[in-house]
Amino acid sequence: MTETFTLVHMSDVHLGPLEGVPLRHLNTKRALGYLNWQRGRRFVHLRSVADRIAADALAQTPDHIAVTGDLANLGLPGEYASALAWLEALGDPAQVSVVPGNHDIYTGRLGGASCLETWAPFMRGNEGPAQDGPVRFPYVRTLGPVALIGLNSAVPTPPFVAAGRLGAAQIADVATSLDRLGRAGYIRVVLIHHPPLQGQAPPRRALQDAAAFADVLDRHGAELVLHGHNHQQMLAWRRHSERGIPVLGAASASAGQAHKEEPLARYHVLRIRRADGAVHIDCEIRGFAEASGAVVRLARQDLVMPAA
Ligand SMILES: [Fe+2]
Ligand SMILES: [Fe+2]
Repeated sequence: MTETFTLVHMSDVHLGPLEGVPLRHLNTKRALGYLNWQRGRRFVHLRSVADRIAADALAQTPDHIAVTGDLANLGLPGEYASALAWLEALGDPAQVSVVPGNHDIYTGRLGGASCLETWAPFMRGNEGPAQDGPVRFPYVRTLGPVALIGLNSAVPTPPFVAAGRLGAAQIADVATSLDRLGRAGYIRVVLIHHPPLQGQAPPRRALQDAAAFADVLDRHGAELVLHGHNHQQMLAWRRHSERGIPVLGAASASAGQAHKEEPLARYHVLRIRRADGAVHIDCEIRGFAEASGAVVRLARQDLVMPAA
C-alpha cells in the first residue's frame, strides 16, 4: 500500500472566553485556576492564534484531525460551548477526533453539562452499531488504513494537581483493542492527553499509571502515540517486537507568546504510509517562528527510532 494518510495533530488550545466564573460553578480549584488565567495564561492562549493554526491545518487537506485535550481551562460549560464551536469549524465530527485533558475534566462537577456530553460526537467510535448514550473510552475509529484509539486520562484533581490516570479497566481494554486492530492490519494511532511514559512529567502533573500503559505498548504494540499536556515538542520511543513506537507530544496550538519553556503555537502534520512491509511516518511541524509572522514549516523529520 502506498496510499498516504495525512493526520493533523494539535493540542492544548485552552480556549476562553473566561469572563468571570458563575458563583454556582466556583470552588477552590476553579478560583485558583481563574487567578492563574487572569495573571498570565490569558495573554498566552489566544483564540485568534488557534484560528490561524486551524486555517493552516485545513489548508494541508488532512484526511483527519486529532486534538489531544485541554481545549478548556476551568472545565466550565461556557468554555465547552466555545471549544465546540472551534471543533465544528475544524470539521464534521467524523473527521475530527478529540480526547479530554485535565483542564477539560478539571474538578468535581458543580453543575452544567460535562465536556464528555458537549463534545460527544467527536469522541465516539465508528465500529459496530451507531452509538448514543455516554461516551466510552477507549473509543476506536477506523479510517482507511489507520485506526485511532482514543483514551481518557483526565480525572478530577485537587488544587495544584494536574495528574492523570487511565485506570485498570481502560488499560485492559486498550490492550485488547491494540491486539485486535494489529491482527487486522491497521496502523494503530493512540491518542492520550498526558505524556504516557514514566518521567515525562513531574509527579503532580504525570500519568499515574504510566508504567502499566508502557507495558501495554511493549507487549501489544502500536504504530504511533500522540499526546499533549506539557505544551512542548516531545519525542520518545518504546519498542515492540524490534520495532520502535514513536511517542509524540505537541506543544500548544494557541500560544501567541512564548511562555517559560513553551514555544509559540505549533502543530503536527503526519503523513503516514505503509511501504515495504513497514509503516513510514513523516512528521512536519508547522507553526509560528515569530509572534507576528505567518504559519510556516518549522521542521520535518521521519519518525525513525534512533539506533540504541
Ligand atoms: Fe494544557
Ligand atoms: Fe494538560
